[in-house]
Amino acid sequence: MPGLVFGPGACREAGWRAAALEITRALLVTDAFLAEHGVHEPVAAVCAEVGVEVVVHLIPVGEPTESTLARAGTVAREAGVDGVIGLGGGSALDTAKVAALLGAHGGDVRDYVNAPLGGALAPPGPLLPLLGVPTTAGTGSEVTAVAVLDLPQEKVKTGIAHPLLRPLAALCDPDLTAGVPAAVTAATGIDALLHAAEAFTAIPHTSRAAPATPAERPNYQGSHPLADVWVSHAIELVGRFLERAVTDGSDREARAGMMLAATAAGIGFGNAGVHVPHACSYPIAGLKHGWKPPGYPGDGRFVPHGIACALTAPAAFRLTHAALPERHREAARLLTGREPDADDPNPLGEAVRRLMERIGVPARLEEVGYGADDVPELVAGAEKQQRLLACAPLPIDGSLLERVFRDSL
Ligand SMILES: NC(=O)c1ccc[n+]([C@@H]2O[C@H](COP(=O)([O-])OP(=O)(O)OC[C@H]3O[C@@H](n4cnc5c(N)ncnc54)[C@H](O)[C@@H]3O)[C@@H](O)[C@H]2O)c1
Ligand SMILES: [Fe+2]
Repeated sequence: MPGLVFGPGACREAGWRAAALEITRALLVTDAFLAEHGVHEPVAAVCAEVGVEVVVHLIPVGEPTESTLARAGTVAREAGVDGVIGLGGGSALDTAKVAALLGAHGGDVRDYVNAPLGGALAPPGPLLPLLGVPTTAGTGSEVTAVAVLDLPQEKVKTGIAHPLLRPLAALCDPDLTAGVPAAVTAATGIDALLHAAEAFTAIPHTSRAAPATPAERPNYQGSHPLADVWVSHAIELVGRFLERAVTDGSDREARAGMMLAATAAGIGFGNAGVHVPHACSYPIAGLKHGWKPPGYPGDGRFVPHGIACALTAPAAFRLTHAALPERHREAARLLTGREPDADDPNPLGEAVRRLMERIGVPARLEEVGYGADDVPELVAGAEKQQRLLACAPLPIDGSLLERVFRDSL
C-alpha cells in the first residue's frame, strides 16, 4: 500500500515527498484543462521550493489511448527525468504510471498491456518513483496498480496491471476537487461507488482456487475481509455525500467525503477486484466515440468511464444478486441507510439507479448512442475482460452478458 496523506493542503507535501524519494527532476503529468485553470500550480511551486525541477507534460483532455501513453513515455525519456508526479483525474494518473514505467524501462506500451491484446510483460524492475495527486474523486488510481487505456484499433479499453505500477505515495487533497464540474463529479462519484459495490459483491477469495505460486495470485483476488473494511465505508460515504457534492461543488464536507470514498474504494477494489459493470464498460467506452458528454470539458466525443460503468450496473446487480443476496442487500443498506424489503430481487441495482437519476447520470445505453444492433459487439468486447469477469460471484458467459446489455438498452 502506498504512503497516504489525506486532507486539505495534502498536495503541498509533494515537494518534500519528491525530495525524500531523491527525485531531482520530475515529470509533472496533468491535463490541458487542469493546467489552464492552474490546478497544478501549488504542486509545481512546492517542488521548486525544495529544489526539485519540474517538467510539465500536458495530456489532451479525454481518456488515455495507446498513443497518448506512448507520447508520455517518450517525453519522460527525452526529458531525462528521475521521477514522475501524476496530478489529475484517472486519465492523468494512469498516464503518469505509464510514463514512470516507460521512462525507467523503455519498450512499447503494447509490450506491457494485458494479454491477449498485449504482451503482458511484467516491468523488469521498479518504475521511476511516482507520486499520485488525484483531482477527481473517482478512480482511486492514486492507490491502484493498474493503468487503463483505449486501444482505438481494437475499439476496446484494457489495462496494464502490475503491483509495481502503484504510486509510492498518494496525496489526497479534497480542496483540489473544488472546481470539478457537476457532470464530472457525478460520473466519477458513480465510478467510486461501483468500485466499492462490485468489490463488496465479488466472488469471495476463499471460493477461488489457491494460486500455485505467489506470482500467479491475481491483483484482483476476490472479496476479502480487509478489502471489505475499505469498500463498505466507501459505499456509505457515497450515499451520504455524492448528491451533495454534485448539487453544490463548494460543499467542502461533501468534497472531502467523496475523496475519502474514492481513495478507500481504490484500496479495496485494487485488491479485491471489480466485475460485471466494469467488464461491460470497456466495450461501451471503446466501440463508439460519437457521444458528447454534456458538461464535460473539451469537445471530445466519448462515454466517460464512470458513465460507461453505470449504464449496465442496475441490470448487472440484478443478475449477481441471486448468487450473493445478503451481500447485495448489505451494500444497498450501506448506500441508502435503509433496510431493503426482504423480497426485493434487486435492492442494490435499484438503489444505484435511483442515485444515478438524482445526479443526472444517463441510465440507458440508447441515451449514449447504442441500440439493439450493437449488442453482439458489446458482448464480444465484454467477454474479453476475463480478468474482471473472473471476480463475478457467478460464472458469466456470453448469454448472461447479452441479457445485461439488452436489459440496459
Ligand atoms: N487506474 C485505475 O485504477 C482506474 C480506475 C478507474 C478508472 N480509470 C480510468 O481513469 C480514466 C477516467 O478518469 P476520471 O474519471 O478521473 O476522468 P478524467 O481524468 O478524464 O477527468 C475528467 C475531466 O475532469 C476534468 N478535471 C479533473 N480534475 C478537475 C478539477 N480538479 N477541476 C476541474 N476539472 C477537473 C479533466 O480535465 C477532465 O476533463 C479512464 O480512462 C478510466 O478508465 C482508472
Ligand atoms: Fe472504474
